[in-house]
Amino acid sequence: TKENRNDDVGQEMSTVHDKVVAPSEGEPPKSLLSQALKTGTAKSHSAAENVHFVHNFINGIIDRELYKDMITGLFHIYITLEKLLEEYAPTYFPSLHFPQELNRVDSLREDMEYWHGYDWERQCNTPSPAVQDYIDRMKEVGRLDPLLLLSHAYTRYLGDLSGGKVLSRIARRALHLGKKNNGDNTNDYDGLQFYNFDSIPSAKLFKDMYRTKLDQLSLSSREINKLVAEANVAFALNMRVFEELDVKGGVIGARVRNVREALSYYDIERKG
Ligand code: HEM
Repeated sequence: TKENRNDDVGQEMSTVHDKVVAPSEGEPPKSLLSQALKTGTAKSHSAAENVHFVHNFINGIIDRELYKDMITGLFHIYITLEKLLEEYAPTYFPSLHFPQELNRVDSLREDMEYWHGYDWERQCNTPSPAVQDYIDRMKEVGRLDPLLLLSHAYTRYLGDLSGGKVLSRIARRALHLGKKNNGDNTNDYDGLQFYNFDSIPSAKLFKDMYRTKLDQLSLSSREINKLVAEANVAFALNMRVFEELDVKGGVIGARVRNVREALSYYDIERKG
């Protein structure tokens, strides 16, 4: 519905203050962005883990239909995210563009076919309202402040690389998914390609490298603050997608909050 729409974020983004990050002598200035993002989204992270759908997921309680909806939402989200990154990352943050290693759209296409059948593209061509809001926000950020797309990339990809292995195992058991019949890749399960990063042998090493690249960006503290604020918006948008699944699943009291309300309800810090 209209009042749930993501039309109320964005105005506050200029209220953060500049602080000077003093470089130590002889070293290039460090932005400390990786630490700012981690600590600045810590509250959001634990709030996200506590949304009913996510909480149940971690405990191995996963409804098949809702899982399919989640994959469908992710498909639409990543189509937009990866197209925008293709367009803007080479100009605004080339050192953090890893399409070969990170892109999820091809994996999600496989999963969509597994879950929805050959006709999936026609069946699933309309994003749900919360997913559409997420898409609209990323497009808006692309238009107005493309550097902040980095916050969206960070929130999704570092999350996928962190929780992915565990979530994949949980989903495999809960949904009784079988091994793919194509050789000896032990992680290759039907319907779970989303969690498979074939070009990333060690998630830990990749994340360490990613954090190093984050810290090597030359950014003002104002830019860092804006990046953290946008990462928190990204978390809120993800939570709304889960809230929508709770509503669909008939969870008592569940509703999709508007973005401003989600930010304050989950006590999410908007400022860096
Ligand atoms: C980090 C698990 C949900 C985004 C992590 C880490 C774990 C984890 C264990 C720490 C990894 C490390 O320090 O190297 C989980 C679990 C979840 C969950 C079990 C529940 C299903 C989410 C959600 C998002 C998210 C919903 C956002 C969409 C992130 C990000 C990081 C992270 C961005 C990286 C933090 C950093 O090091 O800067 N997650 N997560 N997580 N997670 Fe999650």
